[in-house]
Amino acid sequence: MNDTNRKTNPLTPAVIITGATQGIGRALAEEFAQGGYALLLVARDEARLAEAARALADNHKVEVGFAACDLSTDEGCDRVEQALQKFGFYGDILVNNAAIMTAGFFQDETLPKLRQIVDLNVRAVVDLTHRFLPGMLARGQGGVLNIASVEGFMPVPYQATYAATKAAMISLSRALAYETMGTGVRISVAAPGPIATDMHAKAGAAHSRYVQFLPMMSAEDMARAAYLGFKRGNWVILAGWFNRLVALGVRFIPGILLIPSVGWFFRVRDAEGNLQEPRPLAKPQGAEPPKASDYPPARPVEDKDARRAS
Ligand SMILES: NC(=O)c1ccc[n+]([C@@H]2O[C@H](COP(=O)([O-])OP(=O)(O)OC[C@H]3O[C@@H](n4cnc5c(N)ncnc54)[C@H](OP(=O)(O)O)[C@@H]3O)[C@@H](O)[C@H]2O)c1
Repeated sequence: MNDTNRKTNPLTPAVIITGATQGIGRALAEEFAQGGYALLLVARDEARLAEAARALADNHKVEVGFAACDLSTDEGCDRVEQALQKFGFYGDILVNNAAIMTAGFFQDETLPKLRQIVDLNVRAVVDLTHRFLPGMLARGQGGVLNIASVEGFMPVPYQATYAATKAAMISLSRALAYETMGTGVRISVAAPGPIATDMHAKAGAAHSRYVQFLPMMSAEDMARAAYLGFKRGNWVILAGWFNRLVALGVRFIPGILLIPSVGWFFRVRDAEGNLQEPRPLAKPQGAEPPKASDYPPARPVEDKDARRAS
């Protein structure tokens, strides 16, 4: 499309799908394309984006654009808006799906990695939602579909930061669903349980008990449930009896039982089932903890009642 056409032709409403080159995001792109929506696919790998865009456009006869960018950066989020303009789209529906996860002891993670998890899983979600929600509200249509996780309903040892970002996503989505009630804009959050994608292996959790023992759903089944739930206007979308039971059950299980059980499932193990131990940490030099004798003597507490009585 040339610039003159773009100026005269009205913009096309599009579904922005982050993390759309594989896993749940790719399956969601199929669902929305099948529903006849134009798509803007977002991920970092340009070659895979181009391939996915071509396949979706050919199979479903819909307009598909893409934006290759790292959403954990401000510039990455800017690029989404620039790509919409480039393809003659506007953001009618936003699907915040891209996320990364790591597995292991918190103190063994690097700070840049932890920042990246928070920046992609939370900051980009807030950023993109804030960019596109006002337009949706002004038009009185469209919506935001956030892909969180059942991990967002509980503390998860060994995936602590990831689970915390998913809790933030659930909280944000439910609050915004309430704020936007009656506007014509839908805000939904899907909370999948374990899904058969590369995410677990990439995080180093391929041999954790939850991957081996918990029921795994396919990305296609999860995407279908998320798409239908969003179309119905469900605030929280849970798929499968096991995940519904977990999301409800964790509210009634005391932390003293819940957290060790979750920890057992999520502890990182090797292929033989051996537990990952935390890396030994060197004591920082010259930073001995203070002894009791290092503190000034405590001042006696004045007994005000005794003074009043005298
Ligand atoms: N798999 C599960 O068991 C499971 C369970 C519950 C919830 N979820 C949630 O479902 C969503 C999708 O998970 P998945 O398993 O389908 O993930 P996945 O297979 O690892 O795919 C992640 C997608 O995000 C993109 N991405 C990663 N980092 C990015 C960045 N910095 N900027 C832009 N795009 C980025 C990836 O493409 P590039 O690498 O090219 O950027 C890819 O398209 C996530 O929100 C996840 O938390 C997954």
